[in-house]
Amino acid sequence: MCGIVGYLGTKSTVDVLVNGLKKLEYRGYDSSGIAVLENNEYTVLRAQGKLSQLEEKIKKSKPSGPVGIAHTRWATHGVPSEKNAHPHKVEGVCLVHNGIIENYSELKEELNKQGAVFSSDTDSEVVAHLLANQLKQTPDLRQAVHKILTRIEGAYAILAVWDKQPDTVVAFKNGPPLIVGQGQGEMFVGSDVQAMLAYTKSMIYLEDHEVAELTAQGAHFYDRTGIAIKKQPILIDWNTAQAEKMGFKHYMLKEIFEQPKAVASVLENYVNHESLSVHFEKLGVSPVPGAAPGLSLDELKKVERIFIIACGTSFYASMYAEYLIEKLAGVPVEVDVASEFRYREPVIPPRSLVMTISQSGETADTLAVLRMAKEAGALTLSLSNTKGSTIDREAHGHLYMHAGIEVGVASTKAFISTLTVVNLFAIFLARQREKMSMAEEKNYVQNLLGLPSQMEAVLSHDKFFAKASKTLKEYRGFLYLGRGINYPIAMEGALKLKELAYMHAEGYAAGEMKHGPLALIDPSMLVVVICPKDSHYEKTLSNLQEAKARGGVIVSIGTGEDKKLKEMSKEYLSLPKSDWMASGILSVIPVQLLAYHVANILGYDVDQPRNLAKSVTVE
Ligand code: G6P
Repeated sequence: MCGIVGYLGTKSTVDVLVNGLKKLEYRGYDSSGIAVLENNEYTVLRAQGKLSQLEEKIKKSKPSGPVGIAHTRWATHGVPSEKNAHPHKVEGVCLVHNGIIENYSELKEELNKQGAVFSSDTDSEVVAHLLANQLKQTPDLRQAVHKILTRIEGAYAILAVWDKQPDTVVAFKNGPPLIVGQGQGEMFVGSDVQAMLAYTKSMIYLEDHEVAELTAQGAHFYDRTGIAIKKQPILIDWNTAQAEKMGFKHYMLKEIFEQPKAVASVLENYVNHESLSVHFEKLGVSPVPGAAPGLSLDELKKVERIFIIACGTSFYASMYAEYLIEKLAGVPVEVDVASEFRYREPVIPPRSLVMTISQSGETADTLAVLRMAKEAGALTLSLSNTKGSTIDREAHGHLYMHAGIEVGVASTKAFISTLTVVNLFAIFLARQREKMSMAEEKNYVQNLLGLPSQMEAVLSHDKFFAKASKTLKEYRGFLYLGRGINYPIAMEGALKLKELAYMHAEGYAAGEMKHGPLALIDPSMLVVVICPKDSHYEKTLSNLQEAKARGGVIVSIGTGEDKKLKEMSKEYLSLPKSDWMASGILSVIPVQLLAYHVANILGYDVDQPRNLAKSVTVE
């Protein structure tokens, strides 16, 4: 996930761009760069590290001119370095990109054969080459963009400029956000309204596949085929309360949209971007004074069994962790809800690790389990979002969700952060136990680094659920189905709908359909199935056939263009291509959005559902 910003006008371009980047630094900050039009040519300055490094360079060479684009980077393809920082300049074309070009290796191979010379390891540079090539035949920046749009697959928000058409910025997107800010005789464009809010409140949100052509005098918009379209600006007029919610109607929706940032923050804390490896060296070191003594890596290596215990949403994260740890690290894992585990006299053999997952770090049942495990002589490890909470203080080892404050009672971003941490923890354990090679680790980590951008693409399903909620609220019940790591996600989807919309919903392992739930199927029951193209795909598809044959109405969540699944479904929602680990995280977003929008249209208090509490410190 990166941040991009562009400016055309009479203010100091560099100041506007740098101020914009400061507001976008939350989206990534391993390197940054700027391209400014000087004497009919774009000057590029780039620097590795925080924005201050770029500012130093700007101070020295003082670029100035009426148009510019800028970028703050979160590395996905290619390590954080100056050469991989944006803008990328190829034959007079400069470009900044947020997202992932999924077919970049094919495109790169093709371009290499044509003699292209690449100066970075990024996926983004292929787009600059494609554009530069296209401009030789189509010497107009916007028209050239339309021509190459069909060639690029994946999630992207891109700003492009060209030395030969120096007064124009072309902006286009598929997935990640891109907003045009309108001023008087000046124009802005960026990944977030915050990058421009200091200068204008009049904003136009670009939709996927739309193209905007900006000059200082205004913007023209086009659909994907190049036909001109009209777009209305909206006035961002936030009062203080709205500003806290960043313009979202509810904290929960804001928190759903903050999830790419939450995942990026987990990756920032636990991944070495240069070696593409996971580091949990500080596992045992609590930042909290007076916390229990830490858990050493030696002790962790000797662990023969892991118990993961939690409540509510955190319990579903535990189920997800079980799949990953057993599959990758080969350590036996047992999961249970805390209120059961603490009273069922469980056998905790020597060399066991009891891991608790708790957003608040205060849940009474989970805390009781932690104390019980310590008494039984087990090693304990807390995964929490709250540093210094009771569970965090009392556990031997400490992991953090790094999700930031979560206000909505129904957990969203803390859940997704937890899934990310347990992905990394499973990789770490696998490496410690020599069950995974360094190359495999790199590959997994590389895929996880792409998650924040892919999540931004999935967030565009928000519009679908906002509309569909009117129909969805009429169903008598909801059945959520998934297999493998998507089984716990199905459970979480059902829980979200129960919590928020007070509707009956059940999460089921898709293979269990024929053992009961099939009897429930009729046209008043909506079947939500999570069916990415993983090793369970064909089996889940046959389970769906069974439901479909009995009149079931299906909403499916799958990978890319999936005709088979689409044909079977009333509605099909596409997730970007990813590996099986990342796909579990991506599929959470649609089920959260479904629950949010159905609850919202029913007029319920989404942030504070009836009878529930954020932190349950009683039994
Ligand atoms: C409550 C909240 C849930 C949460 C559960 C566990 O029920 O409403 O959103 O998942 O507690 O909370 P914890 O803080 O332990 O993760």
